[in-house]
Amino acid sequence: MAKERENFNSSLTAVMALAGSAIGLGNIWRFPYMVGQNGGAAFIIIYLVSSVLLSLPILMSESIIGHKTGQGTFGAMDTLAPGTKWKWLGLLTIVSPLIILSYYSVVGGWSISFLLQSLSKGFHSAEQVSTMFSGLISSAWTPVIFHTFFLLFCAFVVSAGITSGIEKFNKYTMPMLFVLIVLIMVYSLNLPGASKGVEYMIKPDFSKLNGHAIASAMGQSFFSLSLGVGTILTYSSYIRKDKNILTAGLGTAGFDLLFALIAGFAIMPAVFAAGIEPGAGPGLIFETLPHIFVRMGEGAPVLVRIVAVLFFVTIVFAALTSAISMYEVGVTYLVDEKKISRRKATVLIFAGTWTLGALCSLSFGPLADFKILGQTLFNFCDLLTSNFLMTFGGLLFVIFVGWKMDKTTVRDEFTNGGRAKFNCALFDTFYFLLKYIAPVAIVVIFITNFVG
Ligand code: TRP
Repeated sequence: MAKERENFNSSLTAVMALAGSAIGLGNIWRFPYMVGQNGGAAFIIIYLVSSVLLSLPILMSESIIGHKTGQGTFGAMDTLAPGTKWKWLGLLTIVSPLIILSYYSVVGGWSISFLLQSLSKGFHSAEQVSTMFSGLISSAWTPVIFHTFFLLFCAFVVSAGITSGIEKFNKYTMPMLFVLIVLIMVYSLNLPGASKGVEYMIKPDFSKLNGHAIASAMGQSFFSLSLGVGTILTYSSYIRKDKNILTAGLGTAGFDLLFALIAGFAIMPAVFAAGIEPGAGPGLIFETLPHIFVRMGEGAPVLVRIVAVLFFVTIVFAALTSAISMYEVGVTYLVDEKKISRRKATVLIFAGTWTLGALCSLSFGPLADFKILGQTLFNFCDLLTSNFLMTFGGLLFVIFVGWKMDKTTVRDEFTNGGRAKFNCALFDTFYFLLKYIAPVAIVVIFITNFVG
């Protein structure tokens, strides 16, 4: 007889796993940067509203599919819409997280390398820091080796299973990440000149609040909650049947938002205190912030060394919990559908993502001339997934739940068969948002991504 499928032991640990997927580089760097560029507090308000009115319904759609069927992306679509084209959505959402995982693991590798640097020699001069990042990513083997370590760590956790691996890892890591980011925030807020950074985050500037800023806020809340690629669906399939998924969804969105806000107040005050212009893009975690550590280090070297180490520990672990969720999507598929052992599945996924990741890593150096549609392999994978596959997947999930699934089934999932009274009162609003508002909003995000 097939082994019984595992479950998360409690709602809280399920939320920690889901929040582990959601909380990542998107919260630590992308969110604070976007807030500043798009009108401060005004942007935060739009972000909050879109998290509740748009992202939560999308998150719930994925959750409903996963929790209802107790299966991963492919199995779930096959059960709910057997023999239809929907199976392509099941397949798409196995492939897209694995593509993300491949290049994400390369970035994870860079953060391990920076963590080791902060532990060993530290960041001591502007010249050293300026060349460090470009030197690292363009060399052939060093980043591939760090990518290997990062992916191996994920494989180790995933192969241990849902409860002894993923649940346990997130149960300890998530509280630690919150403690670390709060400590960094306290340090940062006490720096001389920190108030300018706080102002940058919260001063409402409604003149910057145009259509583009609103679409960016929606896109950011979508990205930050890891929507559209089946990770939320897969994790939700491991939530016990008697638990309510709205509670889990609200918890996940709440923690994700809280972390993003704390990270904003941890990073921006330091950026301004060091007199550095806040820039854009994930690479800047590895460029701007080490520069800050150099400038700060002139005053209090030991304390700054400690903060730098804590900071990179935060980045590495936040990236690990997200990467593990992508890894699990593929493993769940192989274990449930292809009936192979979890260990074997972990090895197979490792082989595929390691190879694609290594090629992505080399695309900063030896393979820089190999281009797909004018992009290096790393950029191609990033653009394909962030601008296209995530939104496309999200759109199909809401269309599936809103227009294809039976309304009673959706209501039963949302309200635990009518037992969750609070949810019953909310259901019609949720259903309306899901059916009409979310698809339109996703199309808007999609177009904005393309227009740039
Ligand atoms: N939410 C992650 C972050 O904020 C990034 C992300 C986007 C992600 N899509 C994902 C993580 C899918 C896991 C799975 O950094």
